[in-house]
Amino acid sequence: MAKDGEKGEWKEFIWNPRTREFLGRTASSWGLIILFYVIFYIFLAGLFALTMYVMLQTLDDHKPTWQDRLSTPGMVIRPKADEAFEIVYTVQRTESWDLYAQALDKFLSPYNDSVQAQKNHECTPDQYFQQEDSGDVKNNPKRSCQFNRTILGNCSGLHDRYYGYQDGRPCIIIKLNRVIGMLPGKDGQAPYVTCGAKRYKVGKDEWREDSEKIGELVYYPPNGTFNLMYYPYYGKKAQVNYSQPLVAVKFLNITTNEDVNIECKINANNIPIASERDKFAGRVSFKLRINTIN
Ligand SMILES: *[C@@H]1O[C@H](CO)[C@@H](O)[C@H](O)[C@H]1NC(C)=O
Ligand SMILES: *[C@@H]1O[C@H](CO)[C@@H](O)[C@H](O)[C@H]1NC(C)=O
Ligand SMILES: *[C@@H]1O[C@H](CO)[C@@H](O)[C@H](O)[C@H]1NC(C)=O
Ligand SMILES: *[C@@H]1O[C@H](CO)[C@@H](O)[C@H](O)[C@H]1NC(C)=O
Ligand SMILES: *[C@@H]1O[C@H](CO)[C@@H](O)[C@H](O)[C@H]1NC(C)=O
Ligand SMILES: *[C@@H]1O[C@H](CO)[C@@H](O)[C@H](O)[C@H]1NC(C)=O
Repeated sequence: MAKDGEKGEWKEFIWNPRTREFLGRTASSWGLIILFYVIFYIFLAGLFALTMYVMLQTLDDHKPTWQDRLSTPGMVIRPKADEAFEIVYTVQRTESWDLYAQALDKFLSPYNDSVQAQKNHECTPDQYFQQEDSGDVKNNPKRSCQFNRTILGNCSGLHDRYYGYQDGRPCIIIKLNRVIGMLPGKDGQAPYVTCGAKRYKVGKDEWREDSEKIGELVYYPPNGTFNLMYYPYYGKKAQVNYSQPLVAVKFLNITTNEDVNIECKINANNIPIASERDKFAGRVSFKLRINTIN
């Protein structure tokens, strides 16, 4: 009996034919509630759109409004290593390194001298290429400097189609991430890249590095410099044809059949070297393992 009564109450709560109430409210009461929420949400959406509009008005298309003052840029290598940053291949097995050579071909294609001559400007080396706006008058589009593929010498892929991968003396290409407005190097001292052994942990408080395994290195352009004329960078919209300068490193006598842990870093007299806070700023590390079948 008690159960039946409860069931009846429930039914009545959902639809009460006497008072014509659905879930305890009349149709007009429901209507008012729905109307209230519709107006409420339209109001919220309007407020959001208005705020967004006002904020967007304050943005400049050509440069970021807010920029972190810390400007130690990240570095990346090509050929793109996998997530583990490993370049591993066997000299005698063409298919194991061919993809690396192809990736470099593709990456360097926009740097062909002919392409650069057509797109970019021949700048005065060793000084910043500044193209400031005068007040509100934008000096756009801004020109960019040529970075010819031939500068990369034996790592350009022009004399040596396989970038040294076929004889165990591979080239790695390094670029610095773009930072708008960055002026690396004070007093005419260009920033340069150096590569060396990476210290790595082998046990608790036990570190090792592969310095004796790296062998001789050669940098292109000489000394691994990023010429000052490629700075500052004004952003994708202002400087449409910008070509990031590159540095190539060729390993001339690296130990084969062993893992070699390498770290390359940027040296500039005004870029703070990677802090503890950001271990990746201004440096890149990777593992190189070249196998040979004897
Ligand atoms: C760049 O040069 C290489 C080698 O000469 C050629 O294979 C490639 O097609 C060129 N790429 C462009 C975009 O001109
Ligand atoms: C780049 O190559 C082009 C075509 O060979 C040449 O005219 C130009 O002077 C070179 N630019 C630089 C900066 O070496
Ligand atoms: C960018 O390159 C194109 C050719 O690809 C050229 O017509 C244009 O003038 C260049 N723009 C600037 C700002 O140098
Ligand atoms: C490029 O490689 C060749 C052959 O290995 C060598 O004779 C030459 O000195 C190298 N060039 C440069 C600029 O290192
Ligand atoms: C490379 O560095 C050495 C020593 O710092 C310097 O004497 C030489 O002029 C530099 N070469 C180039 C091409 O910048
Ligand atoms: C290459 O490195 C090995 C040691 O790893 C060394 O014995 C040899 O002399 C080096 N060769 C050259 C040409 O530097």
